[in-house]
Amino acid sequence: MEMSSDSRVPAESSREPAGSGPVVREGDMVILFGEDGRRIAARAGEGRKGTHFGEVDMATVVGVLYGRAIETNLGRPVYVLPMTLQDHIQALKRRTQIIYPKDLGTILVKLGIGNGSRVLECGTGSGALTTALAWMVGPAGRVYTYEREAAFSERAAYNLRRSRLIDRVELKIRDLETAGVDECDVDAVFLDVREPPAILEVVTRALVPGGVLGVLVPTANQVSQVIEALQGAPYVDVEVLETFERKYKVNAQRLRPEDRMIGHTGYLLFARRVIPAENFRPVLRHRANQVAKALARLRRQQAVPGVGSRTGAATGVPPVESPVSLEHEDDPDPSRQ
Ligand SMILES: C[S@@+](CC[C@H](N)C(=O)[O-])C[C@H]1O[C@@H](n2cnc3c(N)ncnc32)[C@H](O)[C@@H]1O
Repeated sequence: MEMSSDSRVPAESSREPAGSGPVVREGDMVILFGEDGRRIAARAGEGRKGTHFGEVDMATVVGVLYGRAIETNLGRPVYVLPMTLQDHIQALKRRTQIIYPKDLGTILVKLGIGNGSRVLECGTGSGALTTALAWMVGPAGRVYTYEREAAFSERAAYNLRRSRLIDRVELKIRDLETAGVDECDVDAVFLDVREPPAILEVVTRALVPGGVLGVLVPTANQVSQVIEALQGAPYVDVEVLETFERKYKVNAQRLRPEDRMIGHTGYLLFARRVIPAENFRPVLRHRANQVAKALARLRRQQAVPGVGSRTGAATGVPPVESPVSLEHEDDPDPSRQ
């Protein structure tokens, strides 16, 4: 079976005239889009697929222009569309809770994933995020994904093979609470595991300084635990957020929101890995500047006769304390002032 090197771009074939757009090739996963708005994922060239409007012989889809309608056995039209990333996520065979597309978009942007990125994922699950990461890193990138349950990892591998993204992914079966990771200097890390604080140290060692850490947890108390863990680790720019998506009934005359929406999926945390600034004390320097300015102001006032006498009793101006201590409460070495 001939395969496209980039699953996003359906390749050319000889059945339709050249220049009119990409055509379906044997083995492509496609969307059959019916008049009722339902989308059905199916593989071109493989058997028959049932829709609400009759069956489609998938052999007849091969060589057809993407976007064209074909006829079911009942003579009804069904559009043949290329799979988007969202279609791939929705078509996953699931064995675990997955990350929803509404959160995936934010995760990809916040982690800064792009062509050639190297990403570490902890908690492969069914492979929804793995699919999104593999889609974004392109053929030059790499996704390293760890999962402790072999059956989940195998299901994720099956899903990645179906979407033809498996070549960009290394799936590893390992419990990260008891073993480390093989990679170092990855551009980004994402944790979707039950106990993120338990593996924070391991993944921090693998993340390049300046890289982004992302975490998804379902409950607010887990958010607090992750924040506490980050406070003792080399991270800055900690962010906590949730995403909401509200769909609308598509009716130009009576446009209004859908009655239902997904209320809660999870909380997202992001932070930037840094090299700890052990000898750098900007707070102290800032305070020293403030004190110096205050002293200069008071000296100017004292230079004016009758203002700011050292007793303060006559003028109401408080006496100037001297010498002024610049020692920081936490400073272990006052001799370095
Ligand atoms: C909610 S699922 C991940 C779903 C995945 N993000 C997706 O979008 O399909 C969490 C997964 O993390 C795995 N896991 C939890 N703790 C782990 C650990 N310490 N090491 C490796 N995998 C772990 C679980 O077995 C489970 O499959």
